[in-house]
Amino acid sequence: MRPGSEVCLAFAENEKESKQLQQILEVSKRAGVSVEATKENLVPVPFYSVIRFEGQGQFHPLKYITGLLAEFLKLGGILLENTRIVESSFEEGIYSTKSDSGFLRAKKLVYATHIPPGVNLMSLRNAPYRSYVLGLKLKDGNYPEGLAYDMQEPYHYFRTHIIDGQPYLIVGGEDHKTGHDAPQEAFQRLKDYASQYYAVESVAYQWSAQYYIPVDGLPYIGQLPGAAEGTYVATGFNGNGMMFGTLSAKIISDLVLGNENEYVSLFSPSRMKPVAGFTEFVKENADVAWHFIADRFSSAHLQTLTDLKSGEGKLVDFEGKKLAIFKDDTGKVTALNPVCTHAGCTVQFNTAEQSWDCPCHGGRFDVSGSVLTGPPTRDLETVIVSYNKQP
Ligand code: FES
Repeated sequence: MRPGSEVCLAFAENEKESKQLQQILEVSKRAGVSVEATKENLVPVPFYSVIRFEGQGQFHPLKYITGLLAEFLKLGGILLENTRIVESSFEEGIYSTKSDSGFLRAKKLVYATHIPPGVNLMSLRNAPYRSYVLGLKLKDGNYPEGLAYDMQEPYHYFRTHIIDGQPYLIVGGEDHKTGHDAPQEAFQRLKDYASQYYAVESVAYQWSAQYYIPVDGLPYIGQLPGAAEGTYVATGFNGNGMMFGTLSAKIISDLVLGNENEYVSLFSPSRMKPVAGFTEFVKENADVAWHFIADRFSSAHLQTLTDLKSGEGKLVDFEGKKLAIFKDDTGKVTALNPVCTHAGCTVQFNTAEQSWDCPCHGGRFDVSGSVLTGPPTRDLETVIVSYNKQP
């Protein structure tokens, strides 16, 4: 970690964005953050105004996690990888969970899994989003020194990362609600955006990630509403997981140990919604409600299985049923029931990640229907399709 030496700035490209930037400047100052208006941008994007945050640190998330894990193990902690919890129950003050490799018992349970599995309040109070990142090699070595965000909607950011002496321009953004846009197009838009300002030689890396936006902008950290005492959750980090993950560890460990923590009520999952969050809440939940209705009453275009290209997934109507079909590189077709096992929305194919993503609460399944990301806990149902019944 290099604390205090990094530059981070945000820039506006028009008057409207500039007003928002001014508000960020004012509230940041009020919160005691060291930030100033400046006349220089870190990136070659024409700007209207810029603010610069001083004394920022940069750290490597994987090295950070690996270091924490080493300390955890040293203190007697146990890490079980590839262990999916399929059931849990609470009786006489003890949690019992069943995984595919055995049973676990504990006095406290923490869901550090984005949204806790099953249908619960957290599914309704957080909207799932996907975010995209490219690692680009440049022809001219003009890599930025620091981190720069624009104010567009969806936003973009630029920074540099070095691997074995080779710098890469990291450009990210083009976020959208999970299952609402074509990921491959989002990657292309990101590349086109970067190419306007940088001499891009090649795309060395690309990936996407999922995060959850809480209804009022603040994460939910603490006792899970409606669950037995001693069931904790930490979610809705809005893409700032390294910071809020660390804060969650502090809040939840204090709750477990019975220590005072001044942030408990601020982040409490049972807090009332502030009025400021209400519009967003209605918007996000109206969207979920729309999907519940649209998924039950609309139907996808009629396609034949043979139209499908390798590596492609599609929703099709087949003998009066909606199916999620996928063809792999060997030509094998897998057909699934596209009804999400969480609360019944219809999954959409994610071409870039080769997964079926649910637009309602962000559940994700691999091409064989196995759960990748909760809240669903059950796999999509496999459907046997009879080829000789095709027209
Ligand atoms: Fe909730 Fe699919 S994740 S319905």
